[in-house]
This record gives sequence, structure tokens and C-alpha cells, in this order.
Amino acid sequence: MHDLLIIGGGPGGYVAAERAGKAGLSVALFEKNKLGGVCLNEGCIPSKALLNSAKLLRHASDSDAFGVKSENVSYDQSTVVKRKNKVVRKLVLGVKNQMKEAGVELIEQGATILGKEGDLFMVEADGVTYRSRNLIIATGSESVILPLPGVEEALSETVLTNREILDLKEVPESLVVIGGGVIGLEMACYYQAVGSKVTVIEMLDHIAGNVDPEIGSRLRQVYEKLGMAFHLSARVTKVDKNTVSFEKDGEEQTVEGELILMSCGRRPVSSGFGLETLSLDMNRSAIKVNDKMETSCAGCYAIGDVIGGYMLAHAASREGEVAVNQILGIDDRMSNRAMPAVIYTDPEVAHVGMTKAELDEASIPYLEVELPMGWSGRYQAETERGTGLCRLLLHEEKKTLLGCHLLTPYASEMVLAFGIMIEQEMTLDEMKRTIFPHPTVCEIVREALFQLE
Ligand code: NAI
Repeated sequence: MHDLLIIGGGPGGYVAAERAGKAGLSVALFEKNKLGGVCLNEGCIPSKALLNSAKLLRHASDSDAFGVKSENVSYDQSTVVKRKNKVVRKLVLGVKNQMKEAGVELIEQGATILGKEGDLFMVEADGVTYRSRNLIIATGSESVILPLPGVEEALSETVLTNREILDLKEVPESLVVIGGGVIGLEMACYYQAVGSKVTVIEMLDHIAGNVDPEIGSRLRQVYEKLGMAFHLSARVTKVDKNTVSFEKDGEEQTVEGELILMSCGRRPVSSGFGLETLSLDMNRSAIKVNDKMETSCAGCYAIGDVIGGYMLAHAASREGEVAVNQILGIDDRMSNRAMPAVIYTDPEVAHVGMTKAELDEASIPYLEVELPMGWSGRYQAETERGTGLCRLLLHEEKKTLLGCHLLTPYASEMVLAFGIMIEQEMTLDEMKRTIFPHPTVCEIVREALFQLE
């Protein structure tokens, strides 16, 4: 018998396993595919390896203005993919070692929930039945494949998901991206940078989902200038091998692509492994949880993409810690108030806290300050074609930070500090007295704070 069974070895499951193992619990972690989950194997990490190579290419190609002559710059996609695979292998091995050091029993098999007998959960894998009072479901999510005519036939041929798009040995001449959200934009940014003609088709009238609209539209303009095409308020209706048909302003249009990326969102993986035996409260395919990550069944917790919502690796890891703390009897609650989110385009988009639209909807009075990134000395020193932006939103009376929205290189590394300011409810005076290193791009936030009385 174990103290804890965890199904799913992504950044939710493996972090929970490590924390629990180190706290002295006997833990079994089930992973049927690859340890590290989507994040490590076909998401966050591999895409960052690719995007960094694209950034190096852009630096080399745009270097003249910086006084660097680089001639005959070339790009070898197969070397980039090989390096990406090496990075992934190394990190997966690292996670395996972490599990070993934490005393976690790693079972690299598909697990099936058999049900609950008394207060014991029964989970079967490879013919062995495991029992425990505690169970964490961390089974993640899968790509939504639009059920449109022609899609099924073209899957893995011309229509790819986030999985196959990271493994192309050659750069396609053209790429049509269906869905201008996070995955769509990161991959559009990558393939545009390395030479594809990229077209993005987005159902909404803006890209980048709930990102600050001004930031989303500036990002689109940056990419339009580089030659990327965007069709907004456009609904895809069918795919015929290399042709994507979509409806816009009541008219049917088509666009051709050597390859097509389907990046229309992800859905929780909550079936196919016996979850129904626990009769949990669900929100469509997402498992319902409270802020302790407890499901409607005592002793069963759910974390990460399977609960819907943010679908971010860092959210999953923190949720895993919250769940383990309940099991250990430590009071801990999940707070989403300062959940950072990043889109790794070039420039990067990062935000934490609320947007103007969310504040308006919640009728929270706020002060707003917006500065062009050009106010930052380091930004000026390092950037040639920048249209970056920083927007801060503060509570009108309390003068606490409610939202920070950034479009700039380094945004991903900057946003943490502003999340801490939000979470800790620092006052305007306290934030102003904080010393920012100089010269840094993050100084823009200090400049912005001093625009407010
Ligand atoms: P998403 O929800 O970010 O974007 C999907 C987009 O597809 C939306 O803008 C939607 O309006 C559009 N769409 C849906 N149906 C459509 C149709 N029929 N025609 C045209 N457009 C359509 O989902 P995405 O990009 O697939 O990412 C999935 C999840 O993975 C997200 O929750 C995201 O947060 C996470 N992720 C996070 C990353 C990061 O933190 N940097 C990187 C990649 C993914």
C-alpha cells in the first residue's frame, strides 16, 4: 500500500511526486508516455529550444545596424531539431533522477482507476493493483482537433498539431496556422523567422486571446511588417489537403499552405483511464476542484490541465504542491491572483494580474499608466525596431498593483517580480522604494510607477 498514487508525470504530477516523496510519503507515479509530459517533451521546453535558434538567426541577419557584418548566414533545421531533442532527453533524465532521489516509485505504464473500496483507491497498471488513501489526477490535456471536413484525412500529413510541428526536419515553404492563440503565435513566430510564408487564421477579432488588446495588436503589427498574414474574425470551415477554407464577412475564402498547424486550444484528458468509476463532479471534460485541489471525492485531488482553466505548466506545479500539502496536513490554498503568463514571441508578451476588461467587468476602480518601452535605457541600447509597451493597472484607492502587461524582450523574466508585488499587495510607496537594477529593461515599471502620484 502507498500513501499516494499520482496518475500523470507532467509538471503537475512529477512536482507533486517529488514534494510528497521528499516529505516522507510513499509515492507511486504512473506515466504511460514520456516523463515530463507535454511541457517537457512536446510543449514549453522544445518550443523554447527552437525559438532560441530563430532568435539567433534574426540577430545574425539583423546585425548590420549594430555594427556587426554577418555574411552567408544559413539555417539548418535538422541540426536545430537534433539539439532540441538533446535538450529534452537531458531534462527528462534529470526528472527521472529527481524521482529517484525523492524515493518516488516511477511506473512507466498506463494506469487505470478501478474504483474506491472503503477509503482506499484502487489503481491497476500492467496487471498489478496499487492501493492508497490518496490519489492525484494529473493527466493533462490534448489538442482540440476541429471536426471539420477534410481534417481527419489530412492529420499527420498536411495537418499537424503542436507535437509534429516541433519535429519538422525541413522548414516548410508556407504554413497556415489555424488559431492565433499561444501555440499558434509561438509557432507562427518561429516558422516566419526561419523562412516560411505564414498565414494565421483566427476566429476572434484579435490575436493572443485575453492578452491586453493594445499589446496583441502591436504584436500583430510587428509580424505583419515582417510579412505574416492575419485573417481575423475568420472561421475555418474545411481543409482539403493543402487548402484551408474559411468564412470571413459572410464570404468563403481559401489559403494554401505546404503545412497546416491546428492550434485551436486543448481539452482535458479525463476519459479512457477509469475516472468515471469515481463519479467526480465535472465541468464538461474538466474535473471540478476547490482551492485545495480537492475533487468531489474525499482523498482524490486533481491538478494541471485536467482541471481546465489556465493550462499552464507553472500553474500545474503549484497546484501539485497545494494538493500534497493537504495530504501532509499543511494549510495551503491555490491563489490565481498573480498567475503569470507568457507568449514567447519576439518580442515576448508577458502579463500578470488583471486586464482592463477584467477590471471593468468586476467593477474595480483602477488607475492606468502606459509607457513605451523606449523609456528604458537598456531597451534603447539593445533594440532597433522596437514598439514595446508596458501597462500597469493599480487599484484607484488602495494604490496596489492589479495588473502588469508587457511587450518587450525579457518580458518573461521580468514578470515574476510584478506578480510578487500583486500577491503581496505592496502599496505604491513600497513599490517605489524598491530598488531596480540599472540598466535593465524592467526599470520601465519603476518609471511607470513614478508617473502616478
Ligand atoms: P489558445 O486557447 O491559446 O488559442 C486557440 C485559438 O484558436 C483561440 O484564439 C481561438 O479563438 C482560436 N480558434 C478556435 N477555433 C477556431 C476556428 N474554428 N477557426 C479559427 N480560430 C479558432 O490555445 P492553444 O494556442 O492551442 O494553446 C493551448 C494551451 O496551451 C493554452 O491554454 C495555452 O495557455 C497553453 N500554452 C502555453 C504556452 C506558454 O505558456 N507560453 C505555450 C503553448 C501553449
